Amino acid sequence: MKTNSVIVNGGKKLKGTVSVQGSKNTTLPILASSLLFKNKIILRNVPDITDVRAMLDIMSHLGTKYSFENNVLKLDNSELTNNVISDEFTNKIRASSLLLGPLLSRFGRCGVGMPGGCSIGSRPLNFHFDGFEHLGANIFVKEGIVNAEGNSINGDYTLEFPSVGATQNLVNASIYNKESVILRNIAIEPEVISMLEFLNLGGADIEFIERNTIKINGIKELKPVEYQIPPDRIEAGTLLVAAFVTKGEVTLKGIKPEEISVIIQKLEDMGAKITNTEDKVTLKYNGEILGTNIRTGVHPAFPTDMQAQFSVLMTQASTNSRITETIFSNRFRHLDELMKLNANVEVEKNIAFIQPSKLSACRVQGYDLRGSASMVIAGLVAKGSTRVNELQYLYRGYESFIEKLRFLGAEIVYV
Ligand code: EPU
Repeated sequence: MKTNSVIVNGGKKLKGTVSVQGSKNTTLPILASSLLFKNKIILRNVPDITDVRAMLDIMSHLGTKYSFENNVLKLDNSELTNNVISDEFTNKIRASSLLLGPLLSRFGRCGVGMPGGCSIGSRPLNFHFDGFEHLGANIFVKEGIVNAEGNSINGDYTLEFPSVGATQNLVNASIYNKESVILRNIAIEPEVISMLEFLNLGGADIEFIERNTIKINGIKELKPVEYQIPPDRIEAGTLLVAAFVTKGEVTLKGIKPEEISVIIQKLEDMGAKITNTEDKVTLKYNGEILGTNIRTGVHPAFPTDMQAQFSVLMTQASTNSRITETIFSNRFRHLDELMKLNANVEVEKNIAFIQPSKLSACRVQGYDLRGSASMVIAGLVAKGSTRVNELQYLYRGYESFIEKLRFLGAEIVYV
């Protein structure tokens, strides 16, 4: 049975083939988009993770009916009500902020509690609010509830920063606009592109008119749709790092190698041998792990969601490494835990300097999703038995991470 603590016995090489789950960060915005549909929707390859369950809980409160078995999610949003979603629901999950756009569009007004989520820095909603207001909505926050009002969304708006969530919210708010909406400087992460693809499949009229600019022509109705959630590029990257750090050889199935090209490139820079076909990637340790420098950034730069995992890999390199985090203001909490395992790390503002280190087991914990995964990975190479606590964060985004590592030969037990 899954518990919130594991003991990892370090020193086993990972070997074998596993499949990659469906993408968390594609599923969550698509669940929000689904509120725009009055018809039934079927989503396949949906990861059964606690963030998805939390989002479905909130949606049930609005009247969503669903069945979710074997990664197939059948949704019926034909009879939604415009209930206010209190922060009791929304403080469980950051992505709850994505409900604002579709609910505003469907009802002309809505109230959604301020969101929660992982503690990786201050995560305001100013880009979302600014966009809504420029497109004609009125936003005010009262007693912890974000209220949005506005019946006619229209206009030409340039995002101050290509925020993933703000882009998704503004797109969802604009699907039923009466003329057209142009959004400039949008995020173009694969998860955003998939959401646009899903909406267009349902009959939305969204087209790119420049590289980071889309035009959304308003439509009257969306039609029933079936959609396959694409693979999770961050789970894929996490498993590749785990394979490399243990000096193993692992193949991932069912992935889109082009979506993780920057991760593959960094792993190659660090000495891994990587071969890929259309939907498979194999990583093989090739005699050395070299240090490297990483700077996180918006797509197609290196994803912030992979820096915690790489920080562990960097401790096993033969030369020094550096990580510069430019997306979140406080995403180095895992490094304090890594130091407990004897890692040689120094942090100056948003830059972490990581030197070759011999990790030795102790008790550590997760503080956020990717940080928890990185602690489990650290346990795979630390000498002795590492106990990793607070894994409820891991389960927010990884459906069967521990099981996959065990299948590949890791020695991990739930405690
Ligand atoms: N930001 C603002 N104001 C806003 C919106 C964002 O200042 O109104 C800041 C954020 O605080 C952050 C930066 O802009 O410092 C980027 O935020 P963005 O809005 O792009 O991220 P998000 O939509 O909140 C999604 C993913 C994150 C991922 C980021 C960046 C989902 C549900 N979450 O968050 O995923 O790190 O994009 O790619 O899609 C994860 O999976 O571990 C995770 C945290």
